Order: sequence, then structure tokens, then C-alpha cells
Amino acid sequence: GKGEKGEYIEVDENEKLPHSEQRKWEQEQIKSAFFKFGAKDAKAQDEYELLIDEQIDFIQALQLEGNKEKKQDEEKSEYQKIRMTIEETKKSLPVYPFKNSLIEAIKTYQILIVEGETGSGKTTQIPQYLHEAGFTKDGKKIGCTQPRRVAAMSVAARVAQEMNVKLGNEVGYSIRFEDCTSDRTVIKYMTDGTLHREFLSEPDLASYSVMIIDEAHERTLHTDILFGLVKDITRFRPDLKLLISSATLDAEKFSNFFDEAPIFRIPGRRFPVDIYYTKAPEADYVDASVVSVLQIHATQPLGDILVFLTGQEEIETCVEMLQDRTKRLGKKIRELVILPVYANLPSDMQAKIFEPTPEGARKVVLATNIAETSLTIDNIIYVIDPGFAKQNNFNSKTGMESLMVVPISKASANQRAGRAGRVAPGKCFRLYTAWAYKYELEDNTVPEIQRINLGNAVLTLKALGINDLIHFDFLDPPPYETLVLALEQLYALGALNHHGELTKAGRRMAEFPTDPMLAKMLLASEKYKCSEEIVSIAAMLSVNSSVFYRPKDKIIHADTARKNFFHRHGDHLTLMNVYNQWVGSDHSVQWCYENFIQYRSMKRARDVREQLVGLMERVEIDMVSSISDDANIRKAITAGYFYHIAKFSKGGHYKTVKHNQTVMIHPNSALFEDLPRWVIYHELVFTSKEFMRQVTEIESKWLLEVAPHYYKSNELEDSTNKKMPKTVGKSTGNQ
Ligand code: CDP
Ligand code: MG
Repeated sequence: GKGEKGEYIEVDENEKLPHSEQRKWEQEQIKSAFFKFGAKDAKAQDEYELLIDEQIDFIQALQLEGNKEKKQDEEKSEYQKIRMTIEETKKSLPVYPFKNSLIEAIKTYQILIVEGETGSGKTTQIPQYLHEAGFTKDGKKIGCTQPRRVAAMSVAARVAQEMNVKLGNEVGYSIRFEDCTSDRTVIKYMTDGTLHREFLSEPDLASYSVMIIDEAHERTLHTDILFGLVKDITRFRPDLKLLISSATLDAEKFSNFFDEAPIFRIPGRRFPVDIYYTKAPEADYVDASVVSVLQIHATQPLGDILVFLTGQEEIETCVEMLQDRTKRLGKKIRELVILPVYANLPSDMQAKIFEPTPEGARKVVLATNIAETSLTIDNIIYVIDPGFAKQNNFNSKTGMESLMVVPISKASANQRAGRAGRVAPGKCFRLYTAWAYKYELEDNTVPEIQRINLGNAVLTLKALGINDLIHFDFLDPPPYETLVLALEQLYALGALNHHGELTKAGRRMAEFPTDPMLAKMLLASEKYKCSEEIVSIAAMLSVNSSVFYRPKDKIIHADTARKNFFHRHGDHLTLMNVYNQWVGSDHSVQWCYENFIQYRSMKRARDVREQLVGLMERVEIDMVSSISDDANIRKAITAGYFYHIAKFSKGGHYKTVKHNQTVMIHPNSALFEDLPRWVIYHELVFTSKEFMRQVTEIESKWLLEVAPHYYKSNELEDSTNKKMPKTVGKSTGNQ
């Protein structure tokens, strides 16, 4: 029946636009086959060329249309020509035919689950439909959350363009450390973390008429917590509409959680995707990806390529390798437009991936799993899937958190493959074996809430007055030990008292949209009179991975330049040096260029720093400098990160103090050749070994000063801070 509780709402297929009927509405047909790379699949090629012909007809029709328009009204701006094609695009999206029934359903039900294939227009179109339908009339906003920063920014930019408004006016976005909205904003995209924080200042979300929790299937920690918070709000704000929007098949689960809310399913549209596997496992998937891209480029019909890699470094390596090899091939091959996408990519570069591919050329997009569901890039025909993603994992037994490259789940693999079949039949090349797919990949990705540190989330919930976390309404509750560990950590940081209630320090820490350890470090700078330096360090840490520029052909120069910034006590102070010298150069671009520093990262660090200074003002900490006494600065860092202490053990290895885990100093560290006895680290990264990144030398007795309730002096008996002989580091440190 139509819209019964917990049931699917039936949509009338006749509402479809006539031209959308031309499209094939095919279900995903995954065919297992062995890698037949290079062999031409005649049928697929025919189908593809047919489609290209159709597209050409369509484009010509549009151009004719455009010309007519021009004759009728010579004054019509260039923009309006683009606008027509934007209109056409909007109408071609699968959600379009269901616009009216969707609005009806939203008017009828307070909570609605919206389910539809990725790329069907949920994120970009639904807020516009709601705006047109009058949901913003009384000065209220439509909010839409995104799990990823890049998605929030890029989607907002797209919608602003579609509505012909300036980004930041009617359509804006808000992400951590960056608010691009104004009083005029009626459609606001934001990260799920930002909405989580908005609850602190506006617990009833009074300024919103509709809240869309988008990409719900991604199940990030913040999204999972938002489920509980928004569900609670709908009970005392009957006028607030809530949409839970999801790509895959979790809809029933969401419906159950939200009191059997009805499910609105947007019928999907997918072309078949042929899946190819490698015969043997690939030793180096970055290299294999490069080879695959070039093979596709040389042997397969035109159509863009999407490659899934795990992070910025890998993507940059891949970009360089491809540029290098295509340059060497020269005119022998068609033009290949190489475009990266990852979280820290500046927005002008992000916009490039959506630009149409030049005629006769092929585009290859190298992306993190952001392109799995959050961002849809049109005209992708080929997907290369090495089968890995970076994941934050937390071991609740050891309390250690680390970023690791892990195999993806079958669900992810299928999402990735699906990206090849949006506009035409596609091909997905999996750089792993069919056997690995079948027997080694898990069915689904474990939700973040069950595998990461909950410190920040628990602190925000406590600040919202939610004290009983054990009975919080979770879609899937976190493991009990993880919750307890987060509470213990907040207690050790002084954010909670022994009743588990927020302390004054905890309330101040909750003002910062950061990890509680970083917040504590910022607070501690008050006591150690070094807020200026700590704020710079905190800002630099937030962009750390991308500060130093290391082009493959100038590695020696780049490394020499980097070493010039080294501080003898470690990386935090090295980052501070970089920041201060850049300020000294008057924020110069030229200076960055000469010193192999990424100008964009520095600009971002400056923005983050500005935000942090504002927050310091809110918690009433004066900005003072202690540049001459770096021990104070290191003590403030230790006051926040005393969980992250390691002690030199032997053979170039360190052991973490609390859990006796073997870890190593990252080869890029200023301390790599020095190996002090006691160090503090910012994070652990697991690659070939467990590496500490951003490492600074400390004195163990400081631990008793900054965390007396956490460290006992017998744990730290060896407080002499004697340096280890240099040779030890050199003989073992070859990574
Ligand atoms: O949310 P859902 O996956 O259902 O689709 P969407 O993100 O709203 O995408 C709808 C269309 O907008 C796709 O054709 C995208 O390629 C396009 N889009 C774009 O051109 N530029 C963006 N920044 C985001 C989306
Ligand atoms: Mg979306």
C-alpha cells in the first residue's frame, strides 16, 4: 500500500519523462570472468559506440535548440546557454520524475527514508526541490549532512551553480574550521561532524525546517550519533522534517530505527558492468594501477577511467608516474587528462574533476574512496579497483589507534564497480583475484562507531548533557570496552570528574572541534604560557601530511630543504619553525616554492590557526609567546598527548609505555637519526611497520607533572634523557 508505516512507498513509473525511457533500466549484472585485459570485447564496444552516437544526436539537438534561442533573443547571455544544459542535466537525473511524489511524501510524514542508487540526484536535487516547495519560506533552512568535507564543499558549489547564486549566499557549506554561509543561506551543506557540533549551540535545530542526514549508509561515527540526536528532536519538534538518505540496502534497518518510517525508493538505473580479475595477486597495486590505466587508454574505446587509491601520497605518486609515462609516449597516444581527488585537495582543483573531458581525450580520475558513493563523476566507463582503503582502527584492548590500509568489503567493491555503469555499459578491473573477492573480503564494512576511538564523540555528548551513554539510542551500539576506554581517557585528561560528569576543563575542551588530546594541549598552553606557539603547532598538525613538497625528480633538494627546518627536539617544533618562517616571509608564495613547502597547505594552516585563535578567545586564553623556552612548549604538548609516549628499547625500536607495543620513528622525522630515550608522538601509521608520525623528545619526569593520575614514577624509572648513540639509528633505520 502507498506509504504504510515501514513499507515502501510505490512510485508511479508513468511519471517518468519520455526521454528517460530511452535509457536502459538494467539491474547490475556482475559477470565473473578472468582478466581478459586487452582482448577486445566486440559486443561491448558496439554498444558503447551506439551510445556515443546517441549522445552526439542529443548534444546536436541541444545546440540547435540553443541557436534558436539565440536568434530569438540576441541579448541572452552566455550563461543562459550553460543554464539550459544544466536544466537538461537536472531533468535527466533519476530522481527528477519523482519530484512531486517525493515532496508529497515529505509533507505527509515527519521522517522519511530515501533510498536510491548513487548519482541519482539525492544530494544535489532534493534540497532544491524542498526549497522550491516552500520549505524555506519562513526564514528556515534546509540542512544536509555529508560524511566528507570534500563532498560538502563540492556539492554546495554544484547546487549554487545550478541555482545561479554565489556560493556562500543562498547555498553554502560549513565544515570544520571553515564556514561558507551567510544570513541569506537557505540550503546548507555541512559535514556530519559540524551538525554534531551545532547541537551545542542550538540543541533543537530551531533554524532548520528540514534536516537531511545524507549518505547514511556510510555509517561514519558522527552520522551514527546524529541518528540518535535527530530522532530525539523530532519528538518535540513536530514541524521538523527529517530525511535519512542512503545509497544501498540499509533502508529497512533505518526504517526500524526511526519508528518504522516509510521508505521512498528512487528506482535505479544501471548499465551492466563486466568485472575482470587478475590471475595472481598484485605485489604493487599503485604500479599495477598505472599499467592498467595505460593499457585501457591504449586498447579500449574512449570513456573516462576512475581509479580507487587509498590516500593523497599514493595518488600523487600515481599522478607523477602517469605524467611521466604519457610524456614519454608523446604523440603515440591520445591525450590523457590526469586528475586527483582526495580530502585535502584545494577546491579549485576539485572543481576540475567535474569539467567535461576535451574532445578526443580521455580523463582519468585518481580518487580515494570518496568517489565510491559521496561524489559522482559523470561518464566513467572504466573502474580500476585495487581493493584497498585507508581505515582508522582502534584497538580497545591496547587503547591504540592507527591509520591502516585494509582490504575493502564486498559491498564497497560492488559500489566501486557500479561507478562504471552509470552512463553506459562499463568495465571494472579488480587488481585482485576472483578467489580473493570470494573468500577474503568481508561482506560489509564495519561501522566506524564499532572500530574507532570515541573520545571526541563522548566529550560532545557529555557537553550536550547526555550523561548516560550506555543507554543512548544507538543504531548499533559501540563495544562496551571502547565506551569505557573513552570515558577513562577523558577522565585522565581532566575533562570528566569521577562521577563521569563534565568538568570546567571538559566544558572548555568541548569548545574545540578537535580530538580531546589536541584540545587539552591547547588548554595547557595557558599554564605553560605558550599559546601562540601551540596554536601554530595545532594548526600545522591539522595539515601535517601535506606541508612538505617532495617531487620525485627533486627528492634530494626537497629533503635538504626540509632538513633546514628541523628542530633538534623534534617534529612539532619543526612544524612551528616552518610556520613562523613563512609568517616571517610575509606569507610568501615564492618562499614556499624555494623551500619545497606546499603553499596551499600553509594557507590552510593559517585559516585553521585563525579559527583556533577565535576559540581560544572564547575559552578566555590570552595569546602569549614562549618562543625562547621550548621546554614549555613541549610540556604543553605532553599535557595533551601523554597517552602517546614511547621509550627507546633496542635496535632502533621504541616501546609504547602503557602497552609495550613496538613502534618506530617515521623516516621523515627530524628525530630519525637521533633516537632520544623518551618521545611523544602525534599519531601511529601502520604501513610496513607501526610508525610514529610527528615525534618530539620529552623528559619522562614531565609526565608526572602533567598527568600524575595516569603515570606512576616506577613506570618511568629511567628518567635520564641520555641520547642513544647515533650509529644505532643509522644501522637500523633503513626503511
Ligand atoms: O546524491 P546522489 O548520489 O544520488 O547524486 P548527486 O550527488 O546529487 O549527483 C547528481 C548529479 O550531479 C551527478 O550527475 C553528478 O555528476 C552531478 N554533480 C556535479 O556535476 N558536480 C558536483 N560537484 C556534484 C554532483
Ligand atoms: Mg549523494
